Amino acid sequence: MVKVVRASQAEIEAAVDALRDGELVAFPTETVYGLGANASNPAAVRKVFELKGRPPSHPVIVHIDQPRYLKRWVREISPAAAQLAEAFWPGPLTLVLPRAETVHDVVTGGQDSVAVRIPSHPMARQLLDAFGGGIAAPSANRYGRLSPTRAEHVQDEFGDAVKVVLDGGECQSGLESTIVSCLDGAVRLLRPGAVTLSQLRQVVGDVQIGADRSVPRVPGSAAAHYAPATSLIIVPGGDLDRLAESMSEGGQRIAVLAQRLPLKTYQYVTWINAGKRAEAFGHDLYSNLRTLDKAGCAHILVQEVPGDERWDAIRDRLARAAAGGAAGADEGSDVAIGVLP
Ligand code: TXA
Ligand code: MG
Repeated sequence: MVKVVRASQAEIEAAVDALRDGELVAFPTETVYGLGANASNPAAVRKVFELKGRPPSHPVIVHIDQPRYLKRWVREISPAAAQLAEAFWPGPLTLVLPRAETVHDVVTGGQDSVAVRIPSHPMARQLLDAFGGGIAAPSANRYGRLSPTRAEHVQDEFGDAVKVVLDGGECQSGLESTIVSCLDGAVRLLRPGAVTLSQLRQVVGDVQIGADRSVPRVPGSAAAHYAPATSLIIVPGGDLDRLAESMSEGGQRIAVLAQRLPLKTYQYVTWINAGKRAEAFGHDLYSNLRTLDKAGCAHILVQEVPGDERWDAIRDRLARAAAGGAAGADEGSDVAIGVLP
């Protein structure tokens, strides 16, 4: 069971004051923690980029409280976008829509579209309600690193650099939102998340997968990762024990993130059994990877996950993390198309 905590009046007031003063606030959402700034204050949004070390070409998501505020950010809501909003908001879905003229370039990366989402986490809703405006917020991690799913992860990432960190306990989903673009009459899944492809298709019928390659500037069409510092290798379940054993033979420590227990005990292997349920595996994924990353291991072996769509978001993030070491950080990327059916 996930415990959902409400913030005190004083905490919300401190957070709202910080946002109004152009400062940053970390806050929980049902997906991951966000590093938020007043989306109408470009100098404040720039601070998010500076603190994360994120390139300015990567746009951020604007979090809002009510669908009726959409028109401040978006100039056109297609019927498909309206249906998706109706079906999944508040919740772990981000819609990329044609931007309103007043939206600052720092928010959109200078593109003609803007990403918007209405989160469902009670503490995010308290904050948005009290603030009254849009909060531009990427995940509250340094660029290219694992997203935080607990307040203490945010503290690990940024120490005292973020004045206000609202602690809402563990995030329910634990993986970033599903991102869908509704532009030029097409609906496209850009990043898989808790809202699955078949759920989207039930609502709007036709959904394409991946970025539109004919559009010249899609953020992050380069290699991508959401990665631990330790190299991550994806391994078929049948090879896991043999590899863990042989790689740790000389006393080199090896970490394993599996969906089952090891066949026997290996002296130099740190093994986490995250179970066979996609929801629980996803909920704990970043937290487990953080733990293994700190375990002083040479490599993290991750058991290949099943092919069905409940694992799409997990497979996507693992593929990026595995690509990370070699490819360099680019968490702004859209779907790694190869990992979806
Ligand atoms: O669950 C989430 O989405 C979390 C929470 C805090 O809401 N946020 C999050 O933000 O994951 P971030 O910045 O780490 O990832 C947002 C993604 C990036 O890949 C960015 O390139 C994409 O959204 N994005 C933002 N605006 C876009 C746009 N106009 N067109 C296409 N992609 C966009
Ligand atoms: Mg992120």
